[in-house]
Amino acid sequence: MAFRLKSKSDYQEAYKASIENPENFWEEIASHYTWQKPWTKVFESDFEKPDVKWFLNAKLNITENCLDRHLKERGDKIALIWEPNNPKDAVKKYTYKQLHAEVCKFANVLKARGIKKGDRVCLYMPMIPELSFAVLACARIGAIHSVVFAGFSASSLADRINDASANTVITSDAMNRGAKKMDVKGIIDEALTKCTTVEHVIVVNHLNEKTNMQSGRDVWYHEAVAKVNENCPAESMDSEDMLFILYTSGSTGKPKGVVHTCGGYMVYAGYSFTNVFQCDENDIYWCTADIGWITGHTYIIYGPLLAGATTMMFEGIPTWPDAGRFWDVVDKHQVNIFYTAPTAIRSLMAKGLEFVEPYKLSSLKVLGTVGEPINVEAWEWYNEYIGKKNCPIVDTWWQTETGGIMITALAGISDLKASYAGQPMPGVQLALLDADGKEIEGDDVEGYLCIKHAWPSMIRTTYGDHERCKNVYFSNYNGYYFTGDGARREKDNMYRIIGRVDDVINVSGHRFGTAEIENAINEHDEVVESAVVGYPHDIKGQGIYAFVICNKEHSNDVETRKEILATVSEYIGKIAKPDKIQFVSGLPKTRSGKIMRRILRKVAEGDVSNLGDTTTLLDPSIVDELKEGVV
Ligand code: WT7
Repeated sequence: MAFRLKSKSDYQEAYKASIENPENFWEEIASHYTWQKPWTKVFESDFEKPDVKWFLNAKLNITENCLDRHLKERGDKIALIWEPNNPKDAVKKYTYKQLHAEVCKFANVLKARGIKKGDRVCLYMPMIPELSFAVLACARIGAIHSVVFAGFSASSLADRINDASANTVITSDAMNRGAKKMDVKGIIDEALTKCTTVEHVIVVNHLNEKTNMQSGRDVWYHEAVAKVNENCPAESMDSEDMLFILYTSGSTGKPKGVVHTCGGYMVYAGYSFTNVFQCDENDIYWCTADIGWITGHTYIIYGPLLAGATTMMFEGIPTWPDAGRFWDVVDKHQVNIFYTAPTAIRSLMAKGLEFVEPYKLSSLKVLGTVGEPINVEAWEWYNEYIGKKNCPIVDTWWQTETGGIMITALAGISDLKASYAGQPMPGVQLALLDADGKEIEGDDVEGYLCIKHAWPSMIRTTYGDHERCKNVYFSNYNGYYFTGDGARREKDNMYRIIGRVDDVINVSGHRFGTAEIENAINEHDEVVESAVVGYPHDIKGQGIYAFVICNKEHSNDVETRKEILATVSEYIGKIAKPDKIQFVSGLPKTRSGKIMRRILRKVAEGDVSNLGDTTTLLDPSIVDELKEGVV
């Protein structure tokens, strides 16, 4: 079984082999990597507990596979390109040798502070090279990284630090975001007033901003790194030791820490990267995600480096200095493979072709999308104006919990169909279930998307709360991992993702629990109760619509609205601010007190002509009020 699939028949053979004999299949794929000690068993899987292990008792370090393994063959090849926020500033490039040295130095800075295997290290940083160094430095010494997207507020950050009881935070003085400069260290300082476990804060000096350094706790990275050398042996990790925690939202309560482990994650990240993007030795690959999300973990850092590719990270935003920035960067670096989110495509499409026309885009070979369903119109625009009808588009479906791409086309190999994610990757056994948990067979069917066999990079637990992992993913349907998405299957195993079927909304590819946003809104003094739903939004995919009950007649809705937005920014972050707020006197509840969200969704969509059966409502008159007040 070849590691790299090159044709339809390669794919079909691999898919078949992976289902008939997963042990043999994954054993062969895993043999592609450097292991310090081989496994004694390929996998063990029990979806009831859940208890899943891959490459049992094997020893490895993922950074040896990302870095050391390449030094002989491609030590002088560029591993990492950094494109700064401001196009006038200098680009930075690191060869595999240089990246290896940077990672070892960063690892030694951590070691010098006593940070060791198993410690949790929280990273809250802009998209600068040091973020990649820090991620890999943690992996190098066996510390568990927990990257928190720098758009989250101090309060969310504190929750995540506390949930993981991190003893170290890595950050920077400040960050750029287009024309704006934003505080970072100040947010850390605020968060840390609510955290007791953090002993070390390592601060990268990115923008020469003054910041308060707390003595004994805070250290400048540039001062610390001057005292270490670039030799750092890789810690020997068990295949099932934790590699990282990444927080993500679910339908209930606070975000949960999704746990990924070393061996299985490595194998799947590398295998999926190579095959989905069909990345060749001299290709320049650019994924525009932030490393604060799983896409950045698997497809900016680990996957490309495992493949020995050249990966680019971009500090800026798509619309600054103008809406042509992505395309300017593509031409500037001669990017061959470009991977972004539908929301970015839609927002650039809305700005008009004058921002695309000045650029050649002739280096592009492969385009990708991720994070949310892509509508046909955006797909066609991407295909025509960016790909010049000459680049396959891979629409990759996956999740924080799956660790890597699960449903996709393989670039240049698979058939493409706009708005269809495509076929399952080898090793991915999908099932569509009905409401009773029965598998729906055949083609042209829709159901709850589940996965019925373990795959190497699957979630192992939710940090500190295994029951939650079991309840959220493995209890809805016995013996299946439940994704939370609905999907449609057509002939040839072609899948189209319909969207979330739980109370999770996807706003610009960012995932939030409606309950999480409601909890934040409810922190406002005047708010008695709230209910949040998603509604179709032209650019963001889904917008956030909040129904809010306040405890006093407000003479000034405008002020209260502003304050509620500020409250959500404070408790979660600006990215979770509702797009629309409707003040109401009550919510449509059943006699048992359950909110009928179906009605709220219809109102939010502006589709109030047929709200279905409302007779079971405690107070059906509330429906008229809702209809009249649509925002
Ligand atoms: C949810 C996972 C892992 C990628 C970044 C988002 C939605 C993701 C697609 C796609 C339709 C998609 C799903 C999924 N989603 N990719 N290609 N087509 N929907 O990761 O934050 O863990 O969110 O994003 O609803 O469950 P995430």
